Amino acid sequence: MALRIVKIKYTNFKAGYEQSVVLLFFPPLLSANLSASASLRQIAICCQPLRPIAILTFTKLKEFLLRVNVLIANTTPKSGTFMAKVKILAFAGSARKDSCNKKLVKIAMEGAKEAGADVTYLDLNDYPLPLYHGDLEDAEGIPEDAQAIKKLMLEHDGWLIASPEYNSSLSGILKNTIDWVSRSVPNEDYLIAFKGKIASIMSASPGGLGGLRGLAHLRDILENIFMIVLPDQLAISNAKDAFDDQGQLKSKDKETAAKALGAKLVEITAKIKG
Ligand SMILES: Cc1cc2nc3c(=O)[nH]c(=O)nc-3n(C[C@H](O)[C@H](O)[C@H](O)COP(=O)(O)O)c2cc1C
Repeated sequence: MALRIVKIKYTNFKAGYEQSVVLLFFPPLLSANLSASASLRQIAICCQPLRPIAILTFTKLKEFLLRVNVLIANTTPKSGTFMAKVKILAFAGSARKDSCNKKLVKIAMEGAKEAGADVTYLDLNDYPLPLYHGDLEDAEGIPEDAQAIKKLMLEHDGWLIASPEYNSSLSGILKNTIDWVSRSVPNEDYLIAFKGKIASIMSASPGGLGGLRGLAHLRDILENIFMIVLPDQLAISNAKDAFDDQGQLKSKDKETAAKALGAKLVEITAKIKG
């Protein structure tokens, strides 16, 4: 009795590393398309070397695949290929409601969406954090809002970050967020939210350099906490005049560049995820 065997890889966010599972499609399901749910009844999920760990109904498999972030619509046992959908988290290192960095990252988000990613926007204003202080952590632990941000970061494969430049570096709110998220709860892996995550960085500033100096510092920090920061970046100078009333970049070239940054992040992240 021939079985169709398909291997998928996914990132186990809880464990913080990539795992693979093998799906065995039992006859008469061999020619079935995964999206045609009616024709599938039973699927075994096995760990290598093919030790069954579960026999699932299609509904359960669907839940499993969604949980491990596999796009069901693009999966067919016939081709044996499973496309993992890229999840991108986008945020600015500014809480200001009229922040030009929020406007910029939202444009890059559009590029990521157009490239097929699931994109979540995070507004740091919704997660107000105290300034990191070791005594505060000892007394009260990690703030709930910091844990919520960490959870969001863990749930996404790549990040789009627009960082304002303050005194030639990244903003305090962005550094403070990184500092809180870098703290581990007991039995949690060191720097779990950052390791292996992929980032694209950009900035907007009313000045002539567009925040370029701050990006160098941000890149350095992220790489030191084991993130992969893509070489492409974007700095929008004279930002007070660069956006229109709808928050769009007036320059088509700059808008294209911002969207391209989002799309590139999706493309590279998909390749790295496999
Ligand atoms: C404390 C402080 C320091 C700043 N330092 C710089 C700087 O070094 N270079 C720069 O281009 N802009 C600097 N700026 C201007 C910011 O780029 C500007 O306020 C920008 O709009 C902040 O980003 P946002 O609009 O996303 O909030 C500074 C602003 C503040 C409040």
